[in-house]
Amino acid sequence: MPLTYSRYLKLEELLALQTPASDPPEHDETLFIVIHQVYELWFKLLLHELEKVKRDYSSGDLFGTIATWKRIRMVLKTLVAQIDVLETMTPMSFLTFRDRLDTASGFQSTQFREVEFVIGHRRAGMLQHYPAGDAGAERLRERLTQRSLYDHFYDFLEGRGVPIPPALRARDRALPTEPNADIQEALLRLYHGAPDVAILLELMTDFDEGLQEWRYRHVKLVERTIGAKKGTGGSPGVEFLKQSLFKPLFPDLWAIRHRM
Ligand code: HEM
Repeated sequence: MPLTYSRYLKLEELLALQTPASDPPEHDETLFIVIHQVYELWFKLLLHELEKVKRDYSSGDLFGTIATWKRIRMVLKTLVAQIDVLETMTPMSFLTFRDRLDTASGFQSTQFREVEFVIGHRRAGMLQHYPAGDAGAERLRERLTQRSLYDHFYDFLEGRGVPIPPALRARDRALPTEPNADIQEALLRLYHGAPDVAILLELMTDFDEGLQEWRYRHVKLVERTIGAKKGTGGSPGVEFLKQSLFKPLFPDLWAIRHRM
């Protein structure tokens, strides 16, 4: 039997996965489920592409990494734009099924946390929110001590003649990426002397700014939907989310902007 679109994509299985918890089903719960599942699929792709960036950095493949960052950047723009769709749901409509979420929250998205950990935005304390034995929690635990994308970026810089301070190579991998003055000097030199690498550095800055943009749009979505209420995940809600705004993933890239 020739392969069909539906069997190739396992559509029967995929389309059976949107099951509202409200009974009878509240109209907007379908939107809520679909949008979160779509986010998780994009997170899956992001993780796949970020793994490629790591390999490209370590093998010194500048054009390979530029092509992949361009794709990642467009995925992120799509993630930000999708918030517009969810913002068509009013607070009243969300309230018709919010209690069915119980303690479930996007805060528990292991793939989102994996994206942060892969890039180098690591906080070991986050692991306590993911129960041991959970498949996602095990992956997250492994990611915490794997070399981050930024560690692989050091390999790329080394291939371009940048000496990497031994302290950066030996650092505790469970900690977030540290800004470093020597790396910043090297990045400035590359911006001025290597226009091809400058394109890559700008794409990394785009990604960093894009994730901060997602955080901002998510906080505003939360504020307009639940105001000052606590989150289903147990946090104070908007005030908690505001703390992560404006935190760069690649601090070295931001520290040099005024010196260009
Ligand atoms: C009506 C829509 C939404 C509301 C009211 C909402 C609310 C919240 C709240 C209050 C938190 C803080 C943790 C808590 O106490 O629960 C949170 C965290 C989070 N949400 Fe949402 N959210 C919404 C939609 C989304 C969507 C569509 C996504 C996409 C996957 C998402 C992903 C996340 C993530 C990843 C976090 C953790 C952020 C971090 O720790 O930096 N949320 N959300």
